[in-house]
Amino acid sequence: MAKILVTGGTGYIGSHTVVELQKVGFDVVIVDNLSNSNIDVLAGIEKISGIRPAFENIDCVDYVSMDRMFEKHKDIEAIIHFAASKAVGESVEKPLLYYRNNLVSLINLLQLMPIHKVKNFVFSSSCTVYGQPDILPVTESAPIKAALSPYGNTKQVGEEIIRDTIYANSCYQSIILRYFNPIGAHASAEIGELPNGVPNNLLPFVTQTAIGLRKQLQVYGDDYNTPDGSCIRDYIHVVDLAKAHVIAVQRMLNKQTKSSVETFNLGTGRGLSVLEIIQTFEKVNGVKIPYKIVARREGDIEKVWADPSYANNELGWTATETLEETLRSSWVWEQNLAQRAKAE
Ligand code: UD1
Repeated sequence: MAKILVTGGTGYIGSHTVVELQKVGFDVVIVDNLSNSNIDVLAGIEKISGIRPAFENIDCVDYVSMDRMFEKHKDIEAIIHFAASKAVGESVEKPLLYYRNNLVSLINLLQLMPIHKVKNFVFSSSCTVYGQPDILPVTESAPIKAALSPYGNTKQVGEEIIRDTIYANSCYQSIILRYFNPIGAHASAEIGELPNGVPNNLLPFVTQTAIGLRKQLQVYGDDYNTPDGSCIRDYIHVVDLAKAHVIAVQRMLNKQTKSSVETFNLGTGRGLSVLEIIQTFEKVNGVKIPYKIVARREGDIEKVWADPSYANNELGWTATETLEETLRSSWVWEQNLAQRAKAE
């Protein structure tokens, strides 16, 4: 079975994708510098799949080491490139760190691909490229809006770098996946989200509040133009998201793509408010989330959710996990983490 390079494979979405790739028989090589993940994730992956993936502790920004990695792991047929920095606030403070990490790593990979005869590239992009869309649900043809942060800009520029490179070189093809808001954890609770320090994203903050690590969740604004005043997002189970990557790789390897660069929204098609998430989490898990409404967070989009019909029809992929199951999996994962911390 084909060998797939997964950069950022010990990260949140990366690790779930590795498991799904292994499940259908792909041979996986992970490259990760562990800057925002833990080596123990490999054991979690192995517990689920029974296979420990090959692992290289390399920063994708390091061209020479990446070149050596391709020499060592010959015959890689596709790359799924997750490795990137993703904290919006940090990117405002350290823009060059973000431009270097997210763009130099991408350029290195694109440069190394023809040298090592790798033709297929899957890119982790984000719905952040749409900004606040004028029309909801948002389709792939919606205009790209000016990025609100260096992080968001790296996704926009990253997409452009891929398009320009592929249009200039017919030897490549790429599928760009625009993620909405991934949440949840693997049903085994062996892998999940492992935020470093105080979480920026909603769900890890909710679960850490539920377990008592945080006193109170802050809800950033209840005066938006939405039914309950809080922001609306399209929350998608990370395993559903992971499965779309497997399909994207198969589509390229089986030569089913319709153009050399394809772009897909990966979301559920359903928008949920912050308050709805809190209420549903409380209901399905039987725990209280102490929260208070605070001022809006700078740069937040009021509402965005996907029109996933292009991915549904073209990839034959649909997000199938229910919100309830997804929120349950987040809570089981957090409890599992707490138990592990106690045991250490
Ligand atoms: C954020 C980024 C997005 C990035 C994604 C991945 C912004 C504007 N967008 O998405 O570009 O791709 O993370 O990391 O930062 N919320 C609270 N309290 C909290 C945390 C969040 O009320 O403690 C609210 C937010 O206001 C938002 C929703 O929860 O309405 C989701 O927030 P978050 O999980 O940070 O994701 P995004 O902001 O959608």
